[in-house]
Amino acid sequence: MTTTKRKSLSRYLIEEQRVHNNMPADLRLLIEIIARACKHISFSVSKGLLDDVLGNAGTDNVQGEAQKKLDVLTNELFLEANEWGGNLAAMASEEMEHIYEIPNRFPKGEYLLVYDPLDGSSNIDINVTVGTIFSVLKKPESSHNVSNQDFFQKGCQQVAAGYAIYGPQTQLVLTTGRGVHSFTLDTQLGSWIQTQEDMQIPETTAEFAINSSNYRYWEKPMQRYYDELIAGETGPLQKNYNMRWVAAMVAEVHRILNRGGIFMYPTDSRTPGRAGKLRLMYEANPMSMIVEQAGGAATDGITRILDIQPTSLHERVAVFMGSKQEVERVTSYHKEAQK
Ligand code: F6P
Repeated sequence: MTTTKRKSLSRYLIEEQRVHNNMPADLRLLIEIIARACKHISFSVSKGLLDDVLGNAGTDNVQGEAQKKLDVLTNELFLEANEWGGNLAAMASEEMEHIYEIPNRFPKGEYLLVYDPLDGSSNIDINVTVGTIFSVLKKPESSHNVSNQDFFQKGCQQVAAGYAIYGPQTQLVLTTGRGVHSFTLDTQLGSWIQTQEDMQIPETTAEFAINSSNYRYWEKPMQRYYDELIAGETGPLQKNYNMRWVAAMVAEVHRILNRGGIFMYPTDSRTPGRAGKLRLMYEANPMSMIVEQAGGAATDGITRILDIQPTSLHERVAVFMGSKQEVERVTSYHKEAQK
């Protein structure tokens, strides 16, 4: 189908509002602005060395990780794009220690936006896929002066979640609770055009993604599951598996949405007292909403991720997400070990 016969993101959103009654006007406008910010990030990222945007910024984020120039730049792009729209009360991001309240010079809205402006940023300098992840929450009605506490909502309360992936094509993958849909950026038109509808993750898979160089730091149930995966058809799972690791969660989840698989970042003894590497509020929650909406599953090894009560903005969580059968298997190993 040619681009002219396909639906634009704007039309998709308007139809969600009008026909399906699934989209308040202010949420629709917010998503349009987020999509515009992602378009801007896509162009900045694609400039690379031409714009001298590669390399480290010389600062660390709140997790103590070195920030790339593009981490800082894309965070600012996201803030600037979203602060004036009138739909948000505040934002929080991987790159900022504290929440960002919408300044008084702009009207304020009822939504909270949580995002990772540039996921997988270690890939940036080598021209490999990166992305932006976002989650939209409703500010609690009881809240007058927005605070961290307002953000501490379980993932199942998200009203929208999505990511943009900056690969050979730029795509936006979005859910507002009625399936998962993808939109490809038509760089000639400058528009997001719907290219996939109601994406579904197959229940079974023979592909997994994990950084296995960390094997010695994993807990026993994770080591058991990995041993069984690589034992292939001669082991207890009686099938050969394939492995992939792009080192950008956006790219792993995108692959899983398109052809199934399981993505894992387990708890790891290198950081005692901290569960895994990934962040609950702006990585695990939005991706779990997408994965569940596409028929997959997501747990921290024991609990459904979307049921975890957050207690801090930057808290970490172990992640097992993707094809249901494999997520259930590795979760059952963790539960058995817990007993
Ligand atoms: O945010 C963290 C992240 O970049 C994820 O996108 C990715 O899955 C992971 O870290 C890669 O971690 P590692 O460098 O340990 O393989």
